Amino acid sequence: MAFLRFLICSVFVLTFTARAAHMSPSPPVKAAYWPSWFSESFPPSAVNTALFTHIYYAFLMPSNRSFTFDLPETTRAELSQFTTSLRRKNPPVKTLFSIGGGGSDSDLFARIASNAKSRQIFIDSSINTARKFGFDGLDIDWEFPKDTTEMKYFADLITQWRKTIDREAKLTSRPPLLLSAAVYYASEFRTYGEPRSFPAAEISKSLDWINVMCFDYHGSWDTTATGAHAALFDPHTNLSSHYGLRSWISAGVPRSKMVMGIPLYGKSWTLKDPYVHGVGAPAVGVGPGDQGILTYVQVKEFNKKTQATVVYDIRTVSAYSYVNTSWVGYDDIKSTTTKVEFAQANDLRGYFFWALSYDSGDWEISTHASKAWVEDQY
Ligand SMILES: *[C@@H]1O[C@H](CO)[C@@H](O)[C@H](O)[C@H]1NC(C)=O
Ligand SMILES: *[C@@H]1O[C@H](CO)[C@@H](O)[C@H](O)[C@H]1NC(C)=O
Ligand SMILES: *[C@@H]1O[C@H](CO)[C@@H](O)[C@H](O)[C@H]1NC(C)=O
Repeated sequence: MAFLRFLICSVFVLTFTARAAHMSPSPPVKAAYWPSWFSESFPPSAVNTALFTHIYYAFLMPSNRSFTFDLPETTRAELSQFTTSLRRKNPPVKTLFSIGGGGSDSDLFARIASNAKSRQIFIDSSINTARKFGFDGLDIDWEFPKDTTEMKYFADLITQWRKTIDREAKLTSRPPLLLSAAVYYASEFRTYGEPRSFPAAEISKSLDWINVMCFDYHGSWDTTATGAHAALFDPHTNLSSHYGLRSWISAGVPRSKMVMGIPLYGKSWTLKDPYVHGVGAPAVGVGPGDQGILTYVQVKEFNKKTQATVVYDIRTVSAYSYVNTSWVGYDDIKSTTTKVEFAQANDLRGYFFWALSYDSGDWEISTHASKAWVEDQY
């Protein structure tokens, strides 16, 4: 009972700062990243656009010599096809391309962002590329600025980017391109690398919103215990979306500029003892999947094929399943809709998924998420 009270309080009181009065809020963001490496099996034409407002093409990288987007013909064709096909859909969605990504060259971003001249070359090329291929905006996924100096570069980059975008819009009498960034789940890094904070003031001023990556709190780097890798709450550690989002709010980023990430994938472990199988149970290695990662579709297949026991964990707001020593933690319909309700109850701008093609063929999670965001409250 005491626990339930804790949960209810936490859900509706994310933080202590005063909430903005309800002044004509911006329309919600229901976004998803589209990994281009699955384009054959999952073309843009297959996207159910009724469930989303923005789709991100993932990813592009600038050349490490010219700092511009020198794209091969195949990529150029794919970009055209992506925007054309999504714009023609009923309803249409807005498109952005995302620059960088998890495995990308973080040092290249630092080199580009370190001085005004290279920044401008990169920025101009990004805008030209967006306009040329019909995108509505740009997203940067620099994982991650590694120290306070690189955080300053990041601030300089987005400030200069916004100025250039506004100037281009005025010059061409077109709506300005959107500019967003995918960021760490918390506004500050405490646990690894040099302690450092994202530039909240510049983010608030220059970005339309941030995509807060509320996932990957646990994974193959720690095989000693199972974990809810996208836990909304964790009473014992700072590894939770509640903690991370609160840190962004405390740093001063407006709630209306925060879009909460929700994973369409799970993480697996091999249990030490098949009879000890909760969240945080002792483990000895990763479990099924690709290095301990399964898409939502694969989790469903796994559960069905193995007749795994499925449990909903109210404490972390997550699901897990286990059979013998195999254990998978993931987000199901219930945890996803609870997170969407949490995001809306806390006046966040919306939510996004990594990644579009990981949902089941009938758009199970995306459909429930979209319905969970109550449209007519304004
Ligand atoms: C630039 O990229 C190429 C191809 O990926 C790589 O071989 C080269 O080492 C990179 N150069 C620098 C300076 O990072
Ligand atoms: C969590 O963050 C707070 C500050 O925000 C810090 O005082 C505390 O030590 C952190 N706890 C853990 C377990 O990292
Ligand atoms: C689990 O273990 C039982 C008993 O050893 C075995 O019959 C069953 O096939 C196993 N299931 C899976 C999915 O490995």
